[in-house]
Amino acid sequence: MPSLKNDRLLKALCREPVDVTPVWIMRQAGRYLPEYRATRERAGSFMRLCKTPDLACEVTLQPLQRFALDAAILFSDILTIPDAMGLGLFFSEGQGPQFVCPLRHSSDIQRLQVPDPERLNYVYKTIQLVQHELAGKVPLIGFCGSPWTLAAYMVEGKSQPGFPLLRKLQQENPQLLHKLLDTLAKSVCVHLNAQIIAGVQVVMLFDTWGGMLPLPEYELFSLFYLKQIIAGLIRHYNNRKIPVILFTKGGSHFLPQMAEAGCEGIGVDWEISLNAARAKVGKKVALQGNMNPARLLDSHHAIRQEVSNILDAFGPGEGHVFNLGHGITPDVPPENVSVMIDAVHELSKAYHLPYNRSPYAE
Ligand code: CP3
Repeated sequence: MPSLKNDRLLKALCREPVDVTPVWIMRQAGRYLPEYRATRERAGSFMRLCKTPDLACEVTLQPLQRFALDAAILFSDILTIPDAMGLGLFFSEGQGPQFVCPLRHSSDIQRLQVPDPERLNYVYKTIQLVQHELAGKVPLIGFCGSPWTLAAYMVEGKSQPGFPLLRKLQQENPQLLHKLLDTLAKSVCVHLNAQIIAGVQVVMLFDTWGGMLPLPEYELFSLFYLKQIIAGLIRHYNNRKIPVILFTKGGSHFLPQMAEAGCEGIGVDWEISLNAARAKVGKKVALQGNMNPARLLDSHHAIRQEVSNILDAFGPGEGHVFNLGHGITPDVPPENVSVMIDAVHELSKAYHLPYNRSPYAE
């Protein structure tokens, strides 16, 4: 593995000093980029794009060719695990993800097994290709979904407001749901460790639907399994610590509990200011976020102002990774992303003064 030329993300996640605040974007390789749409067209479908390592590598690198990003994120999807378990993932135009065989009966859950890593080999192959191309330019982030979020899609069969079938299962047969969550936690752990061995330098757990739960249920049905996964991960590889980022969308009220999960960083959405979030987690973890993706539709001036507000809300010191509070939307003009990234690097210098001040200066 070549040495890293830009390790700001790793340092910020470990709450070490950096010259400027690192920045990357959730869904940075996505439909707002015309070159992404062109490659997806060539692949024929989103799933073919995910499963063709050459093309998945190409789209992983596309945003880095345009923008001064401090990290790459593997192009894949959280739902590749249930796909590898045999549920048959597909996307139809204008719809979210869907499964051919959702979990409808208790026997569907009983017979579910940790998938053979061979079935996810295309992911590891993509990681190797990306690392070869990156040649140490920036770190590569690997990821998985949380067991709760994966279960939501697997039980429901698709994205459905409030996930009524999942909630019904939770109320009527919590034991069976726990069995499913346990199998998923084991699967996630195996898949993330294989990603680490293939070359990712950071891992992120996406808990998109954990925020729908009240705190005691969040702890029991989501956080418990996230902790189990983190405890089972390879934490050092190639003489480097592998930082873990935990993101529960809508989870700002769980921050103190998440900070105890064993992760290095927590992704924060825009429901809370970083100032308040920092007060809730203290020095335990780094924070990643938290610009509202809708602000990327504003004027260049307004985008710079919003970046400035967020940097100011976090304040001086270590432990901030700039990001959006959720994925970038397809309607964002790419030049607005440049404005945001350049503003982060330019305006954040003032918050890292001890690092930037010359040792010879008065
Ligand atoms: O961030 C990145 O650039 C890496 C790639 C990535 C994708 N999905 C690619 C993708 C990551 C990290 C994900 C995670 C993911 N996938 C989550 C968790 C994060 C979140 O957004 O809450 C979830 C819930 C999924 C499941 C999923 N996949 C949904 C709900 C959708 C439809 C979203 C939409 O905007 O239509 C997808 C498809 C998907 N995954 C796209 C991309 C770029 C859009 C697919 C396309 O039409 O080309």
